Amino acid sequence: MSTVHPDVETVLFSEEEIAAIVQRLGDQITQDYQGKDLVLIAVLRGAVVFMGDLMRAIKTPLSIDFMAVSSYGDKAKSSGIVRIVKDLDMDIKGRDVLIVEDILDSGLTLKYLMKNLSSRHPASLEVATFLWKDIEGKQAAIDPKYVGTHCPDAFVVGYGLDFAERYRNLPYVGILKPEVYS
Ligand code: PRP
Ligand code: MN
Ligand code: MG
Repeated sequence: MSTVHPDVETVLFSEEEIAAIVQRLGDQITQDYQGKDLVLIAVLRGAVVFMGDLMRAIKTPLSIDFMAVSSYGDKAKSSGIVRIVKDLDMDIKGRDVLIVEDILDSGLTLKYLMKNLSSRHPASLEVATFLWKDIEGKQAAIDPKYVGTHCPDAFVVGYGLDFAERYRNLPYVGILKPEVYS
């Protein structure tokens, strides 16, 4: 593998491991959505990298749209408040919606999105998250249908995930060195 960013302590998932995970999810989704009216909704900005890979791994017709919500900003801790920064351009009524997320952490973002999007009466509504963080504290009761992999309760960056808007372009998922954020 090429050199690891100096701010990264450990690589959790390599580029190759990520590709295998996305391939598996793409195959599952392809099977499950045969003949359906699939709409992938990526949550900006963290999910864009996963979205780009996942949509190409799905071999059934689909549409894409984007939503921007914010709960973290530059802070390491969630404010607990989720707000819509950019809404969908598409009407999802009667369509088969799959929310695409990079990570399920406290679950607040997905809890809010599930509630908000279900009120628009899609035919179905599911979640595909690349990472599911195993956290110490409380996590909202979210049951994602598609999970890439679980990850430890650490500051993870790369593959779309940022710290203060940096590191999103790392092709792997790594744990940030504590001295970078403390
Ligand atoms: C991050 C991440 C998820 C969310 C998960 O987004 O991309 O969307 O937090 O956390 P939660 O489960 O505790 O809600 P963030 O709000 O940092 O915005 P970003 O995607 O632009 O980085
Ligand atoms: Mn996000
Ligand atoms: Mg973020």
